[in-house]
Amino acid sequence: MKKASIKESYFVKEMSEITQIMYKRNWDERNGGNITLLLKESEVSPYLDITNIKRTISVSFDAKPLAGKYFLVTGSGKYFKNVEKDPENNLGLIRVGEKGDAVELLWGFEDGSVPTSELPSHFQSHIARLSVDPENRVVMHCHATHLLAMTFTHSLNEKELSRKLWQLCTECIVVFPEGISTIPWIVPGTNEIGKATADKMKETRLVVWPYHGIYGAGKNMDETFGLIETVEKAAEVYTHVQAQGGMKASITDKNLKDLADSFGVVPREGYLD
Ligand code: 13P
Ligand code: ZN
Repeated sequence: MKKASIKESYFVKEMSEITQIMYKRNWDERNGGNITLLLKESEVSPYLDITNIKRTISVSFDAKPLAGKYFLVTGSGKYFKNVEKDPENNLGLIRVGEKGDAVELLWGFEDGSVPTSELPSHFQSHIARLSVDPENRVVMHCHATHLLAMTFTHSLNEKELSRKLWQLCTECIVVFPEGISTIPWIVPGTNEIGKATADKMKETRLVVWPYHGIYGAGKNMDETFGLIETVEKAAEVYTHVQAQGGMKASITDKNLKDLADSFGVVPREGYLD
């Protein structure tokens, strides 16, 4: 029986839509940003012959904990701007090989392209998130403008940065009560930055890469995009507040505690007085 076109799948449609939105927000200039979405075999098999491997692409880190898992991924050097109009060349559907040292291409990357150079950070983050939340499916990286700017002007101490973001928009503590992590500046695309990011992903779904951008993780595209959107909104408010002469008022720790109680979330221990 002829299979349905994968371009009609919810996951290719969702990836196309989200990359377009992110591009229009100016978070993904040129080839900036990358997304990986974990899929079930039952979601992929209606569209693809999963025994038909088009190419095998080696990876430089141990992906064995993900062996046999399927991912829809953005391509290295590919522009988010172009995903919607040309998914076959800008996206790939891959399965992690049994030994964890390569991925098998089942669809996409038709022009010979390969998965994002940030695959070490994505895969290590998936492994870390799955160890604390078996429902995690998305890892998303972008160059969210105001947050990126804030890494040049604000303390990168995790408690100080988390508290400041919580204080800037009432909803922040409800959306990311665990706070936000930071890592030192590290060369992107390396296993080293992947390990540093993944270590933080065990504790927070948001990890800041100073002078570069942000990583987010979540159960689905909406949750992950919503996390980044919320933190970026707070950073944008911070930018305006600073331009207007600095903070003259703030949401208090008592307000933050009341919010957390009211919404049934637990703020990161030790972050509120
Ligand atoms: P890729 O084009 O390889 O996905 O890299 C973009 C990027 O944002 C690197 O951090
Ligand atoms: Zn980047």
